[in-house]
Amino acid sequence: MEKRKVIIDCDPGIDDSLAILLAVNSPELEVLGITVCSGNVPAKLGAKNALKALQMCSSLHIPVYIGEEEPLKRKLVTAQDTHGEDGVGEKFYEEIKTPSIKDGGVDFIINILKNHDKVSIIALGPLTNIAKAIMKDKEAFNNLDEIISMGGAYRIHGNCSPVAEFNYWVDPHSADYVYKNLSTKIHMVGLDVTRKIVLTPNIIEFINRLDERMAKYITEITRFYIDFHWEQEGIIGCVINDPLAVAYFIDRSICKGFESYVEVVEDGIAMGQSIVDSVGFYKNKTNAVVLTEVEEKRFMYMFLKRVFKGYENVIDSVEGVI
Ligand code: RIB
Ligand code: CA
Repeated sequence: MEKRKVIIDCDPGIDDSLAILLAVNSPELEVLGITVCSGNVPAKLGAKNALKALQMCSSLHIPVYIGEEEPLKRKLVTAQDTHGEDGVGEKFYEEIKTPSIKDGGVDFIINILKNHDKVSIIALGPLTNIAKAIMKDKEAFNNLDEIISMGGAYRIHGNCSPVAEFNYWVDPHSADYVYKNLSTKIHMVGLDVTRKIVLTPNIIEFINRLDERMAKYITEITRFYIDFHWEQEGIIGCVINDPLAVAYFIDRSICKGFESYVEVVEDGIAMGQSIVDSVGFYKNKTNAVVLTEVEEKRFMYMFLKRVFKGYENVIDSVEGVI
C-alpha cells in the first residue's frame, strides 16, 4: 500500500498531541513534517509539545517547524486556560533539545508542495500558516492533493462564542482567505462531529491496563483538559477534536457530510463563524465538504488500536463496552 504523504499543521495543544500520536502510528501515512502556528499556545511552545508527542512514538526523525506566531490581523488569543500554560496540561515536561526545532514553517509547506506530488495537509489549528503559504506561492498549491481542517461549526454552537469555533475564531482572516483562495475543496471537520469524540474516564482507566508509558503520557496531558471540561461544560471526560481529522483523512467512511460553499466571518459579533451555505443562497461554487455525522466508537477503536500497538485483541474484547 502506497503511503499518503501529509504535512500536519497544528497548535499543540493537548488534542493536537493526541492527533500526532495517531498520525505517526498510522501505516497509511508518511508524515513529512509538522508545522506549528500560534493558537492554543504560542507557536514556539507548541513546537516543543509536538517534539514531545513525536518522542513518545520514537519519531523524532520527523521535522518540526515553527510557522506564524501571530494571526493574520487579530492579536493572538491563546487557549492556555484550556490546555494549560505549557499547552499540555501543565506537566511542564523537560525540553527536548535535539533535534532542533526549525524556523520557516510556511516555506517548508511551500517547498514540500513544490517538490512532491500528491501531498495533503491535515490542519489542526488556526489556518495562519496555510493562508500565508497561499499568499506567498499560490501556484505551489496546484500540487495539493487534499486538505482537512479541524475547525468551524455548522449546526452546533461554537466554543468561543455562540457561533465560533476556536481555530477559526483565533484567526478568522486566515480561515476566510483559505476557503476563498484554494482550488482544492476543504474537508471541514467541525464541532458538529468532533464534539462526539469524548475521551472518558473509562477509556483512561482502560488504557492504563495497556502500555504504561503511553497511558501515563495520555493520562497526564488530559487531566487538566478533563477538569476544564467539567468546570466549563459539565462533561466527565474531554472532547478530543483533532485526532478525528486524522482518522477521517485515513478512513473517509468514519464521517458523513455534504459539499457546500463556506466562508468565515472576519469581524463583529459573529467573528469566526463558518457560514455554511447548505441551501445555495449565494449561488457560489462549493469549496468545502462539511462533515455532520460521525461513527464515534469506530474512531475510538481506530485511535486505541494504532496508538497502543500489540494490544489489538484486548481492545477488540472491550469493543462496544467502553
Ligand atoms: O476548537 C477546537 C480546536 O481548537 C482544536 O484544534 C483545539 O486543539 C484548538 O486548536
Ligand atoms: Ca488544535
